[in-house]
Amino acid sequence: MTLLSSQIENYMESSSWIRKMFEQGIELKNKYGAENVYDFSLGNPDLPPPDSVGEALHEVANNASKAFSLGYMPNAGYPEAREALATYLSRTQGEDIQAKDLILTCGAAGAINAFFRAVMEPDDEVVCPAPYFVEYGFYAGNFNAKLVPVKSKPLTFQLDVPAIEKAFTNKTRAVIVNSPNNPTGQIYTREELEALSKAIEKHSKKIGRVIYLVSDEPYRFLNYDNLELPSVFDLYKYSVIMGSFSKSLSLAGARIGYLAINPKIENAQQLYNGVVMTNRILGYVNAPAIAQKVLTACVNSEVDIDIYRQRRDAMAKVLNAAGIKYTLPKGAFYFFAKSPIEDDVEFVSLLLKENILAVPGRGFGYPGYFRLTFCIAKDVIEKSAEGFKKATKNLLK
Ligand SMILES: Cc1ncc(COP(=O)(O)O)c(C=O)c1O
Repeated sequence: MTLLSSQIENYMESSSWIRKMFEQGIELKNKYGAENVYDFSLGNPDLPPPDSVGEALHEVANNASKAFSLGYMPNAGYPEAREALATYLSRTQGEDIQAKDLILTCGAAGAINAFFRAVMEPDDEVVCPAPYFVEYGFYAGNFNAKLVPVKSKPLTFQLDVPAIEKAFTNKTRAVIVNSPNNPTGQIYTREELEALSKAIEKHSKKIGRVIYLVSDEPYRFLNYDNLELPSVFDLYKYSVIMGSFSKSLSLAGARIGYLAINPKIENAQQLYNGVVMTNRILGYVNAPAIAQKVLTACVNSEVDIDIYRQRRDAMAKVLNAAGIKYTLPKGAFYFFAKSPIEDDVEFVSLLLKENILAVPGRGFGYPGYFRLTFCIAKDVIEKSAEGFKKATKNLLK
């Protein structure tokens, strides 16, 4: 007698290279000591939250004994939190975004799920450039929709718009992009996003159906070289933006994120009301009250980006010394490097022999590469250099 649905049973069997590496990492750390293991597998921000977060939490505690201070609220979130976020997003997106366009959610993950729940019919398709954040497939599956990955260009991971167009069908309901990107660290240019928007618009007209451009942006603040990050609101009418403070305030466990709806959509209010409802009926009800209060006070704070920048540069040196090819990440905190041998799983197991944990590219729908996260201290990155060199050298023997 089976305890699980067949879908979840399948998911558990076929998914999560990250979890596998996590478990192997625990084993290695127990055996050799944590200081001798180089764990590049998990994207859990390791920098402490800015001081303003602690101060805001004290303020919440000081007011906690007042009635309703942590009670039910409008499902879209506290008005003052949405006002503060609207000011922040208007600045960072370069668009006029108001509180009425915003719904606070349980992280970007909660925003994507609430949005999909509101717009997907069964068997609808979500097109997504690969490699991609694996959870997208599960989020689409939650609502009987299907993720359709389309490979980006090798090594640079620029969008392959003609290939994306070929993947469109009459079931296409959304295209989801993530820039700066997990796992590649790349940032899409205005030209790429314009070409994508045009392709979506053309297909939407052809099938007579709204196709959404969904921009998932939890790494927007991690833009090392101050490149242009165009707002999808400027490029395509039926667009929504998701984001969160999991990385920018190191608050991943506090579950605070948002969905912004392009105010240029005619009748945007209908979509807004729909997502407020799905946020409620999925059981999130509203984004956590305490995290919303922290957000209101801290929306303009950020962890120190320079620390991540220095780690990126240190990681690049380590890979150069080992002769490993990659495109330098322009944002986020990931390298998606080329495996020196075709089989990325085999190369990751060679790294494991040197106590280095990485995730095979096939876990992100792009075999032949592997992902390294730089959520670990710079000196640990530097110390891993010998291991990388040995792993690649062993291949030549
Ligand atoms: C691309 C991408 N989207 C969404 C998320 C979910 O983030 P959140 O904690 O905001 O739900 C992550 C988390 O790692 C991510 O990498």
